[in-house]
Amino acid sequence: MDNNSKEREAFMRLHAGLPRQGPGSDVCTAETLGRLPALPADAKIFDLGCGPGRASLVLAYMLKQKIVCVDKEESFLEQLRETAKQRKLDQYIETRCGDMATVEADLGSIDLIWSEGAIYCVGFDRALESWRPLLSKTGMVACTELSWFSDERAPEAVAFWKKHYPEMRSVAENLEAIEYPGYTCIEHFTIPDSCWWSEYYDPLEKNIEKLKAEAGSDEDLKTAIANAEEEIDIYRKFGEQYGYEFYLLQK
Ligand SMILES: C[S@@+](CC[C@H](N)C(=O)[O-])C[C@H]1O[C@@H](n2cnc3c(N)ncnc32)[C@H](O)[C@@H]1O
Repeated sequence: MDNNSKEREAFMRLHAGLPRQGPGSDVCTAETLGRLPALPADAKIFDLGCGPGRASLVLAYMLKQKIVCVDKEESFLEQLRETAKQRKLDQYIETRCGDMATVEADLGSIDLIWSEGAIYCVGFDRALESWRPLLSKTGMVACTELSWFSDERAPEAVAFWKKHYPEMRSVAENLEAIEYPGYTCIEHFTIPDSCWWSEYYDPLEKNIEKLKAEAGSDEDLKTAIANAEEEIDIYRKFGEQYGYEFYLLQK
């Protein structure tokens, strides 16, 4: 999608104000953090492709350490700064508008890279490759990636994801892929079905209903709405065949 296009504008309008811009939940973020080995007291932590930063806020609340939050969309970072202020967590949140594939940090300096529902934007392999030199000796990556669970795949779901995310692989393929850039997998698990709904699809459906009434002759907005409805419908029908796998990786 062209970043400056009307299509992008319609997408952003539909996605404005959502607590998250992808599946996940506060509880899931908190529990996942609890599964990782303890971090040093002065740990350098980044949330890449943070969006409105729901995960960043959980990390900040639990760790009381600075989280560097990177996203290419300034409006999401603005939302994050506002929420951080409301929750009195702003002293832990540093926002940077930029590219998560070319993160500015010293080599070997980052202890933890967090990235929920965003690594696909630059590509799983490319992101892991570009982040590895930035990680400290025992540095870790905690990321979610859309993954097929088995070979049982409905043609309708395959066709949808072939169009929207042709690089989507199985969990087994992703586990194999992490070895090439030099990671080991500490643990991986599927985020619960509820993560798709309460903080993502439910609020998105509310936006859809509201904007449907306002779309009028705005064809770009109508297309954005139809795409979102199709995605939700595919998940509703075939969500047991694919989902977001949380991969906890170490250098
Ligand atoms: C599906 S959203 C997930 C956002 C957030 N992690 C969450 O769970 O709510 C993907 C995010 O990645 C951001 N993004 C996409 N490409 C990016 C890039 N190259 N550099 C930085 N951010 C990027 C988008 O702006 C968006 O906020």
